Amino acid sequence: MSAPSPKATIAGIRPYQAGKAKAAGFASPIKLSANENALGCSPKARAAYSAAADTLQLYPDPQGVALRTAIAAQHDIDPDRIVLGAGSDEIFSLVCQAYLSPGDTMIQPQFAFAAWAIAAKAAGANVISAPERDYHVDVDAILARVDASTRVVFVANPANPTGTMIPFADIARLHHALPSNVVLVLDGAYAEFAEHRQDYEDGLRLARTADNVVLTRTFSKLYGLAALRVGWGYAAPKIVDALNRIRLPFNTSTGGQAAAIAALKDSEFAARSLAHVRDGLPGLQSALTEAGLVTLPSVTNFVTALAATPDIAQAFEHGLAERGILVRGLANYDMPNALRVTVGDSQQMQAFERVLQDIRL
Ligand SMILES: Cc1ncc(COP(=O)(O)O)c(C=O)c1O
Repeated sequence: MSAPSPKATIAGIRPYQAGKAKAAGFASPIKLSANENALGCSPKARAAYSAAADTLQLYPDPQGVALRTAIAAQHDIDPDRIVLGAGSDEIFSLVCQAYLSPGDTMIQPQFAFAAWAIAAKAAGANVISAPERDYHVDVDAILARVDASTRVVFVANPANPTGTMIPFADIARLHHALPSNVVLVLDGAYAEFAEHRQDYEDGLRLARTADNVVLTRTFSKLYGLAALRVGWGYAAPKIVDALNRIRLPFNTSTGGQAAAIAALKDSEFAARSLAHVRDGLPGLQSALTEAGLVTLPSVTNFVTALAATPDIAQAFEHGLAERGILVRGLANYDMPNALRVTVGDSQQMQAFERVLQDIRL
């Protein structure tokens, strides 16, 4: 007998690579590689998390009722249509498990968040990438690739790794033209950073009435709770029912639920985080431009910049790391000539600008 072999699509999965956290010779490098919140998290969220230490022997609320109620109140939506996940990553995985079978197809934009393809291929499905137009999602290219095998389409708006957004009118057009049996996942991990734009919507309004839309949001970015792994999806009752049937019972922890509730209440921290990012983006963009890179427009908490060649991008990434600053090279996102840099705190940004000027290529 031969050894067990996993499903055929598993071998084609590129394992997820997290933003680097270590730089040789530096005990605490400046980490600008994972789009984390430069200001930390709400002190109230931290206190709520600490208080949860008193009940570590007890299982968390499997339904996360208090957190779903708090999210529903914040967004004026039905709590019964919210599914909680261990990060929004888990919602992607649940959607793929529920709606993709071997031989089915998932379509995503050319520059896509890596976790989607992992989830789709783990479910046995094939993944098709639709070319982008100047690093912006091209809904016509996605639609041109839809066929009878298409079951799920993923789009992030704003997008990672590019940082760009498309007007909501395009998303609405995409949804309108998709067959009704295709699930459209709108990944809103960076939604809060784009909400000031008049042409932006996260898709919640669409998901209220559409039977085939899943909107996902996260506590990892604006709320600074990436370590606790709390995200959520909002969808039609039938989709929510399917996801809840396969969701593991205790997928979000007591501490995570409690911290997320407190984070939602601390609007002052959220507003400060948002202002910090908005204020920090132009300086980060200029520093990258002065270094000879071409920045993509960003409506996120990071800037993606293009070098003339992959070698130059790599030289910057390595030069920065040698000086204790970690940024994200995007070779594994099929952007080998690009670097992605998170807006850090003011000291980190000053250090980044100084060090970038030092690197002469
Ligand atoms: C586009 C996008 N979606 C989802 C996530 C993951 O979020 P979470 O921490 O909620 O799993 C990220 C994290 O970087 C992201 O960039």
